[in-house]
Amino acid sequence: MSKHRKKFITLINKATTDGEKLAPEEMTFSYDGIIYPTTLCSPETFKALESFEAREDDVFLAGYCKSGTNWVGQILNDLVLTSAKNTEDSDSLDDEELEEFPYIEVGDAEKYQRMKRLPSRRVIFTHLRPEKLPASIFSKKVKILLLLRNPKDVATSFYHFCNNWNAYPSFKTWDDYFTAFMNGQMLWGSYIDYIFEWNKHADDENIMAITYEELKENKVQVVKQISEFLELHPTDEEIQGVVDRSSFQAMKANADNTHGEFGNVLFRKGGVSDWKYLFSEEHNREMDAAFEERLSETKLGRKLKYGVYCKA
Ligand code: A3P
Repeated sequence: MSKHRKKFITLINKATTDGEKLAPEEMTFSYDGIIYPTTLCSPETFKALESFEAREDDVFLAGYCKSGTNWVGQILNDLVLTSAKNTEDSDSLDDEELEEFPYIEVGDAEKYQRMKRLPSRRVIFTHLRPEKLPASIFSKKVKILLLLRNPKDVATSFYHFCNNWNAYPSFKTWDDYFTAFMNGQMLWGSYIDYIFEWNKHADDENIMAITYEELKENKVQVVKQISEFLELHPTDEEIQGVVDRSSFQAMKANADNTHGEFGNVLFRKGGVSDWKYLFSEEHNREMDAAFEERLSETKLGRKLKYGVYCKA
């Protein structure tokens, strides 16, 4: 993670306190057919995002909510900073004054102007689907690391998150939540649609897809693959450092510095298969059918190893 997280923590804390004052219907707005939280996003910012100019050496981390974006974001920033230390002035990459909220769609409409001053390489996160991203990201063939997580754990993690973080609308019951999740009435839209849309880019040379589960199972190997994809050349020792600093325990222990109080909500379990505590037979049937219909025959759908991670 970048050394400076003051603006991140300030914005997140403000979202929490703003959310506490809002009625449920005031907590979301719809833009271009998808709902977003008013505590983090705005129509003005989405409009301004259209003018964002990508750079060829930007690095994007794309992942739906709760797929582990803070985790992989830590790994990406650490890899880029570690490599910069070997080659150039890493302090210029981590100037506190220039810090921006890492998710491109979150913040004020002026952030894209300020981001022009950021030195390369910029590491930028997003929960957005590809068709909602500025065109220059694709025309410039910016490298995109696409992070996927099995849909049942995403649904489970998002459920707890919505009910534990005051900036997001909560749900009275798991059933209510599950219906909203399956109907795409979720912040940032449907996860099934998300994977379906990203699958249209699955063969793009500038995109590499990884899963939360493979990263959990083989961190060193996946971190090495990410380095190769970004054309970075860390030593084995540096890779090990990146892996150690990104363990769930290490990130949770450091959460006061990186995430403030929000860390208590974010770093929940960090495991695989927690969905087994929430999904009934009916929920399994519904999710399995949706996956089968939309994703099972797609490249990204196969990458998820649904039969291994999502079968009851
Ligand atoms: P759980 O709610 O299942 O615990 P995001 O960062 O995209 O919001 O995703 C949050 C999910 O990633 C949470 O899942 C969180 O615990 C998990 N997570 C965060 N840091 C992690 C780490 N270092 N290792 C594994 N999982 C992590």
